Amino acid sequence: MRVDVALTPALLPSVARDAPAVVIDVLRATSTIVCALAAGCTGVRPVAGLQDAEALARRSGAVLGGEREGVAPEGWDLGNSPESYDAAACRGRDVVLCTTNGTAAIAALGPRPRVLAGCLLNAEATARSLADDGAETVLLVCAGTRGRLAADDVAAAGCLAGSLALMAAAEPTDSARAAIALFDAWKHDLGGLLARSESGRRLQRIGLDADIAFCAQVDRVPVLAELDAGGVFRGRRSR
Ligand code: MLT
Repeated sequence: MRVDVALTPALLPSVARDAPAVVIDVLRATSTIVCALAAGCTGVRPVAGLQDAEALARRSGAVLGGEREGVAPEGWDLGNSPESYDAAACRGRDVVLCTTNGTAAIAALGPRPRVLAGCLLNAEATARSLADDGAETVLLVCAGTRGRLAADDVAAAGCLAGSLALMAAAEPTDSARAAIALFDAWKHDLGGLLARSESGRRLQRIGLDADIAFCAQVDRVPVLAELDAGGVFRGRRSR
């Protein structure tokens, strides 16, 4: 197995288009997807555009969540704070999620046989499933922030790539090695790394510091989040 990392969506390799891919947006889209599924929502549909998301949620009666500039657009049910997706808010319901970078990165991936949502919260569950999959190449896609590299996403990619190297003797590409080096340098203070990142500083400016500490936890939410053929993330508890 080979593990590759696209450090931003613009760096998606044109090869290995059928490789399993993990989209990573630690602060906060994929952390939110994983939490909503853990709380018992029936599925999370990522949507790239605000109006499409509103129309879809209105038609289907789904919970409408997401952000622009970090906060819920007016009239939406929820923002993008992972812990707000609890059982009271979404158990037994579908969620439509629209965020600035994360859901756009998922859309940019295009159709693939296997797409997972990964973050620090579900790192081990995600790595274990990929190791069992035994694919020749695994692609980790960092959502980034407004087209730029996001340290929170790269660190989580490093966490996953390092686990795959151990679990499945995966050979890291150069970008995966860089991600592993970032994770290793900060693994004892991931909260500190996230707080210093561009996305983390933006969240602190709007008073959402608690989201940073929550999203920095490794393996706190052992749920595998996988996109189905209809474009909806479904959850599976891994232990
Ligand atoms: C995104 O997808 O852009 C992020 O998750 C942003 C955020 O959570 O504020």
